[in-house]
Amino acid sequence: MSYPYQIKSLDQYKQVYQNSIENPDQFWASIANHFRWKKKWDKVLNWNFKKPEVQWFQGAKLNITENALDRHLQYNGHRPAIIWEPNDPDDHHRIITYKDLHFKVCQFAHVLKNNGVKKGDRVVIYMGMVPELAIAVLACARIGAVHSVIFGGFSAQSIADRLQDAQAAFIITCDGAFRGNKDIPLKSVIDDAVVQCSFVKRIIVLTRTRTPVSMIKGRDIWWEDEIKKVETMGNPDFPAEEMDAEDPLFILYTSGSTGKPKGVVHSSAGYMVYTTYSFVNVFQYEQEDIFFCTADVGWITGHSYIVYGPLCAGATTLMFEGVPTYPDAGRFWAIVDKFKVNTLYTAPTAIRSLMSFGLGPIHGHDLSSLKVLGSVGEPINEEAWHWYDEHIGKGKCPIVDTWWQTETGGIMISNMAGITPSMPAHATLPLPGIQPTLVDENGKEIEGNSVSGNLCIKFPWPSIIRTTYGDHERCRTNYFATYENQYFTGDGALRDEHGNYRITGRVDDVLNVSGHRIGTAEVENAINMHAGVVESAVVGYPHDIKGQGIYAFVIDNNLHGDENLTRQDILITVSRIIGAIAKPDKIQFVSGLPKTRSGKIMRRILRKIAEGELTNLGDTSTLLDPSVVEEIIKGRV
Ligand code: PRX
Repeated sequence: MSYPYQIKSLDQYKQVYQNSIENPDQFWASIANHFRWKKKWDKVLNWNFKKPEVQWFQGAKLNITENALDRHLQYNGHRPAIIWEPNDPDDHHRIITYKDLHFKVCQFAHVLKNNGVKKGDRVVIYMGMVPELAIAVLACARIGAVHSVIFGGFSAQSIADRLQDAQAAFIITCDGAFRGNKDIPLKSVIDDAVVQCSFVKRIIVLTRTRTPVSMIKGRDIWWEDEIKKVETMGNPDFPAEEMDAEDPLFILYTSGSTGKPKGVVHSSAGYMVYTTYSFVNVFQYEQEDIFFCTADVGWITGHSYIVYGPLCAGATTLMFEGVPTYPDAGRFWAIVDKFKVNTLYTAPTAIRSLMSFGLGPIHGHDLSSLKVLGSVGEPINEEAWHWYDEHIGKGKCPIVDTWWQTETGGIMISNMAGITPSMPAHATLPLPGIQPTLVDENGKEIEGNSVSGNLCIKFPWPSIIRTTYGDHERCRTNYFATYENQYFTGDGALRDEHGNYRITGRVDDVLNVSGHRIGTAEVENAINMHAGVVESAVVGYPHDIKGQGIYAFVIDNNLHGDENLTRQDILITVSRIIGAIAKPDKIQFVSGLPKTRSGKIMRRILRKIAEGELTNLGDTSTLLDPSVVEEIIKGRV
């Protein structure tokens, strides 16, 4: 495939950007024309941020899998679609061509159909990073079911919450997942989750780890057995369901500033066009390049840049089951060498963690195939940026610092590799079609350059969030009500004298721990569920590897007297309620929290204490009991 819409110079970027802003309908139609449609659109864009309501390619009919699979069969069917590297380097890797992938997706779509899955049904997917995860996702899309992938690190309780919110009657899982030297018993976590969800009708289980599992008659079935049944049918072709442009493609749950995760809903057509367009342009993908995104498909990065973006572009996407430090901290570099990877897209937290092992693990691995490096998930600090540039890219690979969110579906602000200039720690310029603004506290747009403010987007782009599942009002209040006629990102940013953006981090009560979004309220709710806890307050603090660490101030009833035991109990409780990713790094027991006379916790003060900034705590005179601050400072951990 060639990409007529791939931007090739800085001048061209400027021209295309200008045009995309002046004639958005025409611009996006010209991109969308390069996709396969069952019926083209009647109208390109219809929008109203007040409601909010956004429709792209209105009236069009399509199936995204015809673009990710069928479209490539004629000329590129023999090309690798997915290269899969297992957790254990001594196990066999797999190469799945477009033809194979099409075959397997159709087969599994039959399995779904045989088990009663219909268009519009929600299917929860809780699997490790195996190719069948991508196959399951695509088979759902083929049949028109709405997939909701849940990251393998979430607990049974978190899964139950999501199953209930999505009212998902179908689950696809594995017996277990290999991650480094761990074997995670996925099916058994699912079993615990469905105790609370009697509406779940079917659980399809793929064999991966051979961990013993309990299979409930009439409800639980093996993936392999179901495939065997389909094999007897002969030609497994599965005609792709005709989907409306605005039919939901998937739900992905993400944290916000309230206690309950939101089901971000993305639609079919706009998401397809934008993820493909951004993939091809940001990474400057060229035919036959090997693209390695190290994210998990449980997060948006995996959805957009392991599965949909690359496959719709006919690219070769590398999927890795394991972790960067197993069997040693040279694993990424071994994979780059083994498959001659051209683009490596990873997170600052992974870079910082690998930096801490020194240069030893890099030695002996040939990284000369690399052309482009990418970063996502959190601001990349300059030290990590330079290490990545110097030791991995050997000074010759542009680094794209890609800013975006679950809600934006695709990369919004980023340099384009080798085309627009890169700047350490700066996401730099918006992609065509993206109109970022900075606004002040009162919602007034801050014009000009060398300014800072809250980052908003004032015009829709094709992969914008459509709704929060089952609660449209929540979508409105969260994103579209803070500032009039703007989508509010929840991030703060600086714009330098040349118009380059530097993202400074969240301005709401959301933490970014190892590139994962975690709401402080969610963690507090989980801590407060522990019987010994009276109240808690959670804030973030700078953490060398994770970017942000979780600091919890806890008032406990001191029933056991042993703080260490209580600390362990709290950690286990948080793991059970949310998952291990949300475990606080530090827990400080306090006798009171700094509150205003109206009872509001002054998080600003706690944040400063957690950060170790003790001299300038600001005005504490409005506190109900200012002496509590002294006590908290003394007890810092
Ligand atoms: O704060 C920003 C940060 O991650 C948040 C989005 O998190 P999530 O929806 O989980 O998606 C992560 C992967 C796209 C943003 O609000 N963030 C993401 N990328 C960057 C970033 N912050 C700074 N620079 C980035 N490149």
